[in-house]
Amino acid sequence: MIHCRSLPRGLLLLAISAIAWPASAAPQNRPADYLIVGGGPSGLVVAEQLSRDPRKHVVLLEAGPDSSLDPLPAPEVWQGRALGGGSVVNGMGYCRGAQSVFDEWALLSGNEGLSWESMFDAFKATTHFQEDVHPADQVAINQSSFGDGPLEITTQRFQLALDRPFVDKLSSSLDLTEIDFVSGYGIGVTEQVDAIRAGNRTRSSAWTSFGWLAANRPNFEVRHNAWASKIEFTGKKADGVTYNDTLTGSFNTIRAREIVVAAGAIGSPHLLMLSGVGPADQLEAVGIQVVQDSPQVGQNLLDHHYVQLVYETIPEMGTTWQLEHNETAAQEAEAEYAANGGGLKGIPDGNVFAAFRIPDSVFDGLGDYHVSLPEDRPHILHAYTTAPFRTEFANYSTISPFTALVQPEGAGNITINSSDYRDMPVINSASWATPADRAAITYAYKEYRSLFTSPELSPYAPVELFPGANVTTDDEIWDAIQRGSGSFHHPMGSVAIGSALDPNWRVHGVAGLRVVGTPAAPNLVTCHPQGTAYALGYRAAMDIAAADGVHIL
Ligand SMILES: Cc1cc2nc3c(=O)[nH]c(=O)nc-3n(C[C@H](O)[C@H](O)[C@H](O)COP(=O)(O)OP(=O)(O)OC[C@H]3O[C@@H](n4cnc5c(N)ncnc54)[C@H](O)[C@@H]3O)c2cc1C
Ligand SMILES: *[C@@H]1O[C@H](CO)[C@@H](O)[C@H](O)[C@H]1NC(C)=O
Ligand SMILES: *[C@@H]1O[C@H](CO)[C@@H](O)[C@H](O)[C@H]1NC(C)=O
Ligand SMILES: *[C@@H]1O[C@H](CO)[C@@H](O)[C@H](O)[C@H]1NC(C)=O
Ligand SMILES: *[C@@H]1O[C@H](CO)[C@@H](O)[C@H](O)[C@H]1NC(C)=O
Ligand SMILES: *[C@@H]1O[C@H](CO)[C@@H](O)[C@H](O)[C@H]1NC(C)=O
Ligand SMILES: *[C@@H]1O[C@H](CO)[C@@H](O)[C@H](O)[C@H]1NC(C)=O
Ligand SMILES: *[C@@H]1O[C@H](CO)[C@@H](O)[C@H](O)[C@H]1NC(C)=O
Ligand SMILES: *[C@@H]1O[C@H](CO)[C@@H](O)[C@H](O)[C@H]1NC(C)=O
Repeated sequence: MIHCRSLPRGLLLLAISAIAWPASAAPQNRPADYLIVGGGPSGLVVAEQLSRDPRKHVVLLEAGPDSSLDPLPAPEVWQGRALGGGSVVNGMGYCRGAQSVFDEWALLSGNEGLSWESMFDAFKATTHFQEDVHPADQVAINQSSFGDGPLEITTQRFQLALDRPFVDKLSSSLDLTEIDFVSGYGIGVTEQVDAIRAGNRTRSSAWTSFGWLAANRPNFEVRHNAWASKIEFTGKKADGVTYNDTLTGSFNTIRAREIVVAAGAIGSPHLLMLSGVGPADQLEAVGIQVVQDSPQVGQNLLDHHYVQLVYETIPEMGTTWQLEHNETAAQEAEAEYAANGGGLKGIPDGNVFAAFRIPDSVFDGLGDYHVSLPEDRPHILHAYTTAPFRTEFANYSTISPFTALVQPEGAGNITINSSDYRDMPVINSASWATPADRAAITYAYKEYRSLFTSPELSPYAPVELFPGANVTTDDEIWDAIQRGSGSFHHPMGSVAIGSALDPNWRVHGVAGLRVVGTPAAPNLVTCHPQGTAYALGYRAAMDIAAADGVHIL
């Protein structure tokens, strides 16, 4: 997978305050009632909900460090390997997208709790909206789309110079309405809301919201730097997890009645396979003893892939380059952020986006997958970032517009070629995998590039650095798409409910083992997935509680 370089702005990444560490209340010897592997949005929501029952002893293992540390050890947490998971490194954008996705999930999974109506309650239950001062021309946010949940969501306080021209131009040329993307609509244009605490413009993460709440409870215990290497089984009953305490290098096994894997869409199928649950032929090929032949574990890996353009921009654009290379701009930004959380350092990068359909004619002769997607689903998402996408342009102040395929036809997979848990799994990401997917991204890339030659947008993008003015023929453009592609880091679906999992999140064929969060999604949402990761955690907690007799107070 190619790594997205759109790092959120520095201070937001680092401004995570220290917290008091809870005293360990682990009853020794007694197995935990729930052992959760993975401290991202979904794992922490499940932990917070289940630990509301004071009779239940809930333990959570997280491979990465405590994200309360300041500064975060950057390379290790790059992909969200820390308490908070992806929510401590992500772009902070918060959206929900098209409702038809969730109604389809209810059908595919046999779990009515995944319908839009029910998920809307879960979205509300996990978030609250905090009004902040914001530019008057931002679209109104429907506040009844939020509840009184722990995760704080707010608006952008500050606009980049291109933000409004971008919204206006995409609205007019693509015939899009400005909407909030949190109330059930999938198609439109927006300056999206963010997982940011309005009071001091710091990141609102799964750890600082759900984690902090749970950490106050004596029946909850969190172990960070605890890298799970194997789920233990007695026969076909999962009853423990072995992990490397990476601070000491020693291995421990925790016993539990129920195990909930919330290790993301890459880590979850990987851990299952290492533990003997996966496609038998693949496990046998690397010498892993098969506990359960589960051919669907690791299949159906879906992601949002993008392709980029890069333009040299004008001094009026507050870019990442300006913050790093222009002393005046850096000092101004520092002072504004220190004064009231305002300015360039109080916003994430890449907040403005448009999501839309492209003409059916693009798919002529290429099957009916894209054409027959429900009408509220976009094909394409256009956005832009000021972070340096390509190192060869490090000496220019740039903007990088990028366009992504929102509902790809092609699905990838995760397999293993080693039984050592420290080796990365093999990720087949299936970007531009079918002729229709290739036609869609090629159409979108050309269309987006031409928008940046329009009188409204070209003033912000005077010089095209990538792919470059000499790239004109279809072959050259296709070559540029391949060189300019990357992952949005939105993987989902690799241990899907309704195929690998039963409707109550249990892995088919074994007992005591569930998978929750992004891997459990039946397919991809139509915009950024973190809101859905929290809501999926909430739905799983409700279903687990109902099935197992947990009393969520
Ligand atoms: C760079 C980046 C930018 C993004 N930007 C946005 C954005 O702007 N908006 C948005 O909505 N979404 C964004 N996302 C996606 C979003 O963050 C994820 O969809 C979300 O975090 C997924 O939640 P999760 O709980 O399912 O998994 P994760 O957040 O991935 O959490 C899984 C956790 O499990 C841990 N783990 C994995 N394996 C093991 C193991 N063997 N033992 C112990 N622990 C383990 C990991 O360390 C991690 O902390 C971004 C993601 C990235 C990486
Ligand atoms: C930001 O505000 C939150 C409360 O909303 C608080 O818990 C946190 O410690 C503050 N962080 C900083 C760095 O001031
Ligand atoms: C806001 O959302 C609520 C709840 O979904 C809905 O009933 C209402 O019509 C929405 N209001 C607007 C102005 O869209
Ligand atoms: C355990 O973790 C430590 C620290 O990351 C690492 O150096 C060591 O190789 C690991 N041990 C094993 C046996 O996996
Ligand atoms: C540096 O930043 C200042 C203040 O934002 C701006 O006026 C100036 O044009 C910038 N210089 C360059 C070379 O971009
Ligand atoms: C950027 O400029 C510096 C100083 O002129 C030079 O050393 C470096 O090679 C340049 N980097 C790139 C990527 O062009
Ligand atoms: C995984 O996907 C790749 C690329 O599409 C394909 O070649 C391979 O056969 C798939 N492997 C499995 C086990 O599904
Ligand atoms: C296994 O796959 C990884 C990731 O694709 C690769 O880097 C590695 O070389 C492969 N190892 C073997 C032994 O094939
Ligand atoms: C375009 O020009 C660049 C820089 O001179 C060169 O590297 C690239 O190969 C050219 N591409 C094409 C398609 O001619």
